[in-house]
Amino acid sequence: MAINIQETLVGLRSEFTAQIVETESLQELENLRVSYLGRNGKLTLLIKEIGDLPPEMKKKLGILINETKSTLHGLMAAKKNELLKKDDWFDYSMPGKEAERGHLHLITKAINEITQIFNQIGFVRMRYPEVEWDWFAFTALNFPQNHPARDDWETFFLEEKSHSKYGKMLLSPHTSSGQVREMKRTKPPIRMLNIAKNYRRELDASHVVMLHQFEGLVIDKGVNITHLKGTLDYFVKQFYGPKIKTRLRPHNFKFTEPSFEVDVTCMICGGKGCKVCKEGWLEQAGAGMVHPNVLKSGGIDPKVYSGFAFGWGVERAYMMKPGLKLPDIRLIYQTDLRILKQL
Ligand code: DAH
Repeated sequence: MAINIQETLVGLRSEFTAQIVETESLQELENLRVSYLGRNGKLTLLIKEIGDLPPEMKKKLGILINETKSTLHGLMAAKKNELLKKDDWFDYSMPGKEAERGHLHLITKAINEITQIFNQIGFVRMRYPEVEWDWFAFTALNFPQNHPARDDWETFFLEEKSHSKYGKMLLSPHTSSGQVREMKRTKPPIRMLNIAKNYRRELDASHVVMLHQFEGLVIDKGVNITHLKGTLDYFVKQFYGPKIKTRLRPHNFKFTEPSFEVDVTCMICGGKGCKVCKEGWLEQAGAGMVHPNVLKSGGIDPKVYSGFAFGWGVERAYMMKPGLKLPDIRLIYQTDLRILKQL
């Protein structure tokens, strides 16, 4: 009987071994294990039979059984590893990769920062239409009918029916169109900050078709150029740093008299003069004292009130922030993460 058991054992072992080698999935391997070594498995049942044998025999067969079992377990473990690798095995206990966190777009950040700086000196952010009538964008701002800004290659006009009083519909090319809307909305004193998208037919390293501007408008009794200068100085010191200065250069805008271009200390050379700025200043914005005709368009008496206004590109202002590497304004609206991550 012992001989019988021993032979069956050896037979089962080689049969089991052959089948282990052939398994193709973890499930198959598990089924195989159960069919030999499970509670009613072939080997388990066979092993039970040795209980009835004389001790000498039991001992001899016991050794063989243990050896057989450990060989089989070893084979199964090796096979399992092989199958796990093949199944694209994933270690669920491995620590995960941290998900990358995004952040607000730099223009949103810039708008928030600019709004906050002006809030502190009493400016209130207003929102005026980006799809506008000609009257608010041009006529009310003292532009003559034949002004080149009205050319099709400067401004985007919409193919909508014209308004009987306000003329053609267009995509506003500047935030100045909010000036007269604000004057019509409320009475002086006015301290408005209008931040909006503008559209122009321009596209190169320093221009984008859709840009953002922030427009300041202050109207009250006795407002003069020193208030304008002081406001601009305050802004650049907050936005760029305490060493940055502004300079007003005479210019011509239809809606201001006198008009200025606003230069800011070049952040690249600190005002010494370099390849980018040439003389230490960078042109940043337009500004001036509100033209009496514009006050009249808004129903405000120019004999009683005066005001100043300025308009500034958000993209242009932000590009000059110290430490930013933005050689081309168009990069702001592309999706290159190397650019967006530094902002
Ligand atoms: N609207 C002008 C532009 O887009 C900028 C500007 C100039 C705004 C003078 C003003 C101003 O308020 O007073 O180029």
